Amino acid sequence: MKSDLEKSADERRASSSDAHHHALVTTIAEMRAAVAAARRAGKTVGVVPTMGALHAGHLSLVEYCQRECDFTVVTIFVNRTQFAPHEDFRQYPRTLEADRTALDACRVDVVFAPPDEEIYRTGSTTLIEVGPVARPLEGESRPTHFAGVATIVAKLFNIITPDRAYFGQKDYQQTLVIRRMTEDLDLPVDVRVCPIVREPDGLALSSRNVYLSPTERQQALTLSRSLARASELVAAGERNANVILARMRELFAAEPTIAVDYIALADPDKLLPVEELRGPTIAAIAARVGKTRLIDNQLLDPLA
Ligand code: PAJ
Repeated sequence: MKSDLEKSADERRASSSDAHHHALVTTIAEMRAAVAAARRAGKTVGVVPTMGALHAGHLSLVEYCQRECDFTVVTIFVNRTQFAPHEDFRQYPRTLEADRTALDACRVDVVFAPPDEEIYRTGSTTLIEVGPVARPLEGESRPTHFAGVATIVAKLFNIITPDRAYFGQKDYQQTLVIRRMTEDLDLPVDVRVCPIVREPDGLALSSRNVYLSPTERQQALTLSRSLARASELVAAGERNANVILARMRELFAAEPTIAVDYIALADPDKLLPVEELRGPTIAAIAARVGKTRLIDNQLLDPLA
């Protein structure tokens, strides 16, 4: 008899006690067994790590994964080590059933949603410090964040041993941290970075957008609008970073309820500030709209 993981989505649905088109896996042992079965069948394995509360941004990563890999694993795990004590770990939206339903529309093979005790059962005192690229921007505001991210991603890579892993440009610095960690630790994973998915009015999709009141939702557009302004200025020939930053800040000055954490123009590899835009440059913003901290970014290319 076929194991649950060897069945097609329809066979699984027909025989399974729940109505979803994927297997739900909650233990590391079962996850390893599922990947081993996929490997035996000659399949390539892709992973999309998430913290759940899935939206179209996450689903776009699933689509990329599914296009490039035979076996797609979506992980859903709200990773406490990447939240500082004052941050929103406890309030972070946990919507497993709705997430699983959203994933039914994609051909996902496994949803790996382990409980906290499964992932941190050893008491886990090891943390991966990636170094310089983790320090500016998000690293200044959230000094312990990226060690938590690098460590959980390394653990997920070791548990799932994917060929490819999919991340969003939405968290631009996170992609640099993960690439660095993967290279430095010789993890045999191809790290893929996919474009930011936005609402029609420009707001970058985020699981935290659900915290925004209708007024805050409008104010939140300042992030994407200021990035669009930066990009227009560059297209019009502006190369002076201070001029561009000042024009971006003007939009925030008109929204006194938004507290800007940083607005930066930085080189896209090391994230060091640039003064003159001579090549591709990342414009990155973090701002608190009410109590909700949002981030957004855009690559500016003066040579385009
Ligand atoms: P989470 O915030 O759930 O995001 C999961 C993935 O979805 C990340 O790679 C993120 O960049 C991507 N994503 C979020 N919003 C997006 C958007 N609007 N368009 C495209 N991609 C988007 O990032 C994390 O979780 C965690 O730090 C994690 C990597 C899972 C480690 O815990």
